[in-house]
Amino acid sequence: MSDIRSTYTDDLRFYGATTPRELADRFGTPLYVYNERILRERCRDLMALSAQPGFGVNYSVKANANPSLLQIIHEEGLVADAMSPGELCMDALGGFTPEEILYISNNNSPEEMLTALTHGVLISVDSLSQLDMLGGINRGGRVMARFNPGIGAGHHAKVVTAGKATKFGISPDRLDDVFTLLQKHEMTLAGINQHIGSLFMEPEGYLEAAKVLLKLASGLPADALKALEVIDFGGGFGIPYHKYAGEARLDLAALGRGLHALISDWAAATGYRGRFLVEPGRYVVAECGILLGRVTAVKENAGTRYAGTDIGFNVLMRPAMYDSFHDLEAYRGDAESAGEPVLQTVVGNICESGDILAKDRLLPLLREGDVLGVLDAGAYGFSMASNYNQRLLPAEVLIQADGSPRLIRRRETPQDLTRCLDGLVRQRSGQEAGPRG
Ligand code: LLP
Repeated sequence: MSDIRSTYTDDLRFYGATTPRELADRFGTPLYVYNERILRERCRDLMALSAQPGFGVNYSVKANANPSLLQIIHEEGLVADAMSPGELCMDALGGFTPEEILYISNNNSPEEMLTALTHGVLISVDSLSQLDMLGGINRGGRVMARFNPGIGAGHHAKVVTAGKATKFGISPDRLDDVFTLLQKHEMTLAGINQHIGSLFMEPEGYLEAAKVLLKLASGLPADALKALEVIDFGGGFGIPYHKYAGEARLDLAALGRGLHALISDWAAATGYRGRFLVEPGRYVVAECGILLGRVTAVKENAGTRYAGTDIGFNVLMRPAMYDSFHDLEAYRGDAESAGEPVLQTVVGNICESGDILAKDRLLPLLREGDVLGVLDAGAYGFSMASNYNQRLLPAEVLIQADGSPRLIRRRETPQDLTRCLDGLVRQRSGQEAGPRG
């Protein structure tokens, strides 16, 4: 291929009938590009984890909430979670019905709970105080409770969501208190759920935590177990970010075998006929997404070679926030000019020293105008992007199954930045007609 570092996407035919440089020219950068075929493959791999009746995959929308992707995920038979009124709105645009959405949130206001109730979705509470609050506004209703199994996992302390050092979940030893509150408000426990954290690469911890949740379910009074409709083991399924180093994948087949054995034995032993869910976000969308950007400046500071780009941490927060690694490709269309790889630090256009996309990376010597591809950017990329430094949210493009690109979110304009401002300010700046008469 003619690009200077592109074997990963070449092998995958990631860009379909187009090229990254054509996409960058046509839609501008920074640009999120998603591949429909890869998204569908990941959905299918997850749906095949278990053939147990009632088994399903609850896509965790926080990873990527673009409704065009949600539509595809819905077509593949997954259900979805939501953790805010905004996510509920996106789920609905993606085609998910209220029965296909679980509201798995924390520290909600009563107004938010009412919004979720009005949408007709089942709410999971993650504290006794939230259970009491929900009971106060939905007496006699159904509710799910999130437990903390005491086992955590994750790629960074900031994303471990179970165990002792986290705000999440109800401790299983407070089960009696849960039932006292359920009785007080005449509510039914319709589901139990957990989430141990984000990004594990070995199945064992997840399976151990799943056992803990099933044990808790076994300990429920017989009538409560009978009324239980959902057991959701949470997400966290990791993907290999070191693509060029050949990092091994999570052994999904082993995870599936372990999970299937657990839930089928448990269902046979207890007579449970409800749903079993897993709740991945990253695994569904990370690898179908690449972030394109452009090298805008190169320089040498105190012996470090910097490549300055338009990919600031406002566009992709993960490296700055968690020191996350994302592999980079470079597209120039002139392989001859690539030369020997050189250590470079790739940075963005934000006014902070921590605005580093990739530190000391061995890459072909980058030049102004090169297009860069940040791999595995489909999860927690756009969904965590911000307007910091008053930069505009990027556009998103889908490479459809036939290989053609479709714009699924336009780039923001400076006018979008002023949409929510005081009318007087907008009026003074001439962006809005003044009051008539
Ligand atoms: N369920 C719940 C209740 C969650 O809090 C999360 C993620 C998930 C499911 C999905 O987890 P996943 O399968 O995507 O690992 N921004 C971080 C990840 C934060 C995850 C927050 N919760 C990152 O970029 O790595």
